[in-house]
Amino acid sequence: KLKYSTIKEISDSGVVLSSLPSCYACRDPDINGSTEILEEEVPIIDFSLLVGGTAKQRAQVIQDLGKACRDWGFFMVVNHDVPKRLMETMLDACKGFFNMREEEKQEYNGKHVLDPIRHGTSFNTSVEKFRYWRDYLKVFVHPHFHSPAKPSGFREISLEYVTRTREMAKELLKAIWESLELKPDDMEETLDLNSCFQILIVNLYPPCPEPELALGIPPHSDHGLLTILSENGVNGLKVEHNGKWVHVKPAPNSFLVNTGDHMEIVSNGKYKSVVHQAEVNASSTRISIATALGPSLDTVVVPEPQLVKHEHQLAYNGMKYRDFIEHQQANPLMDKSVLDLLK
Ligand code: SIN
Ligand code: FE2
Repeated sequence: KLKYSTIKEISDSGVVLSSLPSCYACRDPDINGSTEILEEEVPIIDFSLLVGGTAKQRAQVIQDLGKACRDWGFFMVVNHDVPKRLMETMLDACKGFFNMREEEKQEYNGKHVLDPIRHGTSFNTSVEKFRYWRDYLKVFVHPHFHSPAKPSGFREISLEYVTRTREMAKELLKAIWESLELKPDDMEETLDLNSCFQILIVNLYPPCPEPELALGIPPHSDHGLLTILSENGVNGLKVEHNGKWVHVKPAPNSFLVNTGDHMEIVSNGKYKSVVHQAEVNASSTRISIATALGPSLDTVVVPEPQLVKHEHQLAYNGMKYRDFIEHQQANPLMDKSVLDLLK
């Protein structure tokens, strides 16, 4: 049994592990080795044309977004209006958090999956068979903003970061809604975005011995509507596309965006939530900053009636968003396990 409580602690201990401790060996290289990798480029969305382009340019971007959501559930956003400087200082603030002493971080080791500030390792160690090579900080940031009190500056920087990314995500959601040929006014009513639930998840993946046997995060879909991700220049995200895996290598200063389970529900299955995983590597520490936007926690999202009428079939039953999240977080993380319950 390992005497360390986080991956950061193992990695800082100076003990050079020549092999991966068996509790982290969740992958069978013989099986995973044969999983085919696609060398495809992910769709690119130019945000500046969506909000500042001509009517024709905006219409084109909306069409591209619709196609990206239908074919991929995933796209890269370039020319957005979140300042580069803010992305950099946010990354530094996150490093600052993980660099605090273990005792300081442990203050935030939440007990319940719906605690508003939670630091931990793996995904949910109380239920999972294997551990994942990852430490995390999860913070609920909207409609009520929370932040760890330390390190200094974290609160101010993260508030600015989640506010700016939320504004961008709302613009993207509006456009995606339009791509479904739905009326923008109905979006507010269906999703209650003024009280939208937004969460900040910072992932730390230190260098890993035998990375081909381990995973940072196993294959899963996200519970919300959209997830906005940035990283520290070290790649590791893989998304599923047409039954194969695609390595994602974001352009500098871009955001990676994926659709979540509630997008699949509200679109009546027209836009699928994308399955993705985080891989680790032997040489560099990877940090990713994900912020996910969903409906308000008390909303029961059902497929948009206009789409159901058109397609003559209701693809999903509803579940209160809070219960959906609780279910996902309290069980081993696996593919689309909660969404599948609603079919
Ligand atoms: C996630 O799936 O939440 C994070 C993926 C990543 O770190 O790239
Ligand atoms: Fe995810």
